[in-house]
Amino acid sequence: MLLGVNIDHIATLRQARRGIDPDPIMAVPLAILGGADGITVHLREDRRHIQDRDLEILKKIVPVELNLEMAVTEEMLSIAEKIKPDLVTLVPEKRMELTTEGGLDVEKHKLNIKKAIERLHRKDIPVSLFINPDKNVIKLSREVGSDMVEIHTGTYANAKGKSQENEFERVKNSVKYALECKLLVNAGHGLNYFNVKKIAEIYEIRGLYIGHSIISRAVFIGLEQAVREMKQLIKR
Ligand code: PXP
Repeated sequence: MLLGVNIDHIATLRQARRGIDPDPIMAVPLAILGGADGITVHLREDRRHIQDRDLEILKKIVPVELNLEMAVTEEMLSIAEKIKPDLVTLVPEKRMELTTEGGLDVEKHKLNIKKAIERLHRKDIPVSLFINPDKNVIKLSREVGSDMVEIHTGTYANAKGKSQENEFERVKNSVKYALECKLLVNAGHGLNYFNVKKIAEIYEIRGLYIGHSIISRAVFIGLEQAVREMKQLIKR
């Protein structure tokens, strides 16, 4: 199981003082030593954490998969075309949200998403869509030409008891359906050291994209060890 480490929140801490520390670039070798298979950043329209300069440097130094999460906007598409990350994950973005709150509404934005995917494919950039665990959205993701989907695990992560079991079944069935639709499948959002194991047991998942819990743990035990512990939990 691949582990993509989202380093946005290192930049969140830096932006708290608008200074230079801590620099998310410094996270790269440590995350990789801990076993990260990829580095993810979300360049937001309001630049609240990751900055354009971060992305430019990451493109030069990241030796593993560099995954750029971004909204479907003209500005972001031109940045992706210029930087050429290894993977673009299209996500919905609202200015006031604390984090990405739900999956993409592929039905509503079908044409725009299709055009964005075509543009990115012309630059040989594979595209993943961040979507809710919903069969109809998975089918639409295939129709618009996406290569992969990332199933939103936030509702699973926030649920408890029986409802968490129900949410787990939804994620599991969606993963299987996405594979039937010939899409590669990832999962992420809200995963932590307690709830990740069950998701990691879904054999068909290619990789997990995890940020907040790893960076939070890294504050106490260091990034390399925090990544290593997560990698150990999701190991097959
Ligand atoms: N995947 C996507 C598409 C996201 O937007 C985020 C949050 O930036 C994550 C995964 C990681 O979520 P978390 O920080 O809760 O692990």
